[in-house]
Amino acid sequence: MTAEEKKKLALFLDITDDRLRDGYKRFREAYQFSDDAAPASSGDPEAPYLNGFLAEADTLETVAGLIRLCTACSLHRDRSQAVPGEGVSQPLVLVVGEGPGADEDLTGRPFVGKAGQLLDRMLASIGLFRDKNCFIANVVKCRSPNNREPLPEEAAACGPFLARQIAILKPRVILSAGRIAAQALLETAASLGSLRGRFTEYKGIPLLPTYHPSALLRDESKKRPAWEDLKLLRVKLSELDQTYAGEAAGGTP
Ligand code: URA
Ligand code: SF4
Repeated sequence: MTAEEKKKLALFLDITDDRLRDGYKRFREAYQFSDDAAPASSGDPEAPYLNGFLAEADTLETVAGLIRLCTACSLHRDRSQAVPGEGVSQPLVLVVGEGPGADEDLTGRPFVGKAGQLLDRMLASIGLFRDKNCFIANVVKCRSPNNREPLPEEAAACGPFLARQIAILKPRVILSAGRIAAQALLETAASLGSLRGRFTEYKGIPLLPTYHPSALLRDESKKRPAWEDLKLLRVKLSELDQTYAGEAAGGTP
């Protein structure tokens, strides 16, 4: 990071700190920072995560702020904006996709394109909504050129952000959408076919890998098994949470 970026980050964290404490704007000494030896824009996946600020981040807003400043992998070069994720702060379900596409890059919001609209309908069919009981995030937070899959080193570079988000969100269940998300969360190279359709765990949290909604748009035959996955999710949530209703007001997708 450059000295200028560090200054912006320190100011952002200080202001957040003041706001969260009592709103009083504390006096602070002028910041003294110098540029990192290796330029951050080289996209070094070994880059120290914004100088350890991430490890200290204890709100979603702070993590989102750090994501927006991140240059730890080369994906930052093509983004118009990062897409940290959105939803409620104590979700029943965290949905993890692959990474932002063109629509998400433009709006700064996850899953807002065609696949996102299908995802919303699928979730709604079992009583899940991003503004009520879900959070939607991705393995990588920046768009990849020509929508190619994120490279393993990009997923690895971005991993600490997702890990921090999960630690803060403490979702009851994680639904991973597509191969990239399942492999990243489970740290495996196993095929999606061998992983989907049954619950496993991510750090003690039940994790259900399923198809990516884009795969359902390309291949109708995957819709039935994806629906079976949603039913499994519904059963799990009914077991875990008494307040979970499980049905959408408006029927199936
Ligand atoms: N596909 C994803 O994996 N994530 C998004 O946010 C949008 C499309
Ligand atoms: Fe940083 Fe993740 Fe964006 Fe790469 S994809 S620049 S690691 S926020």
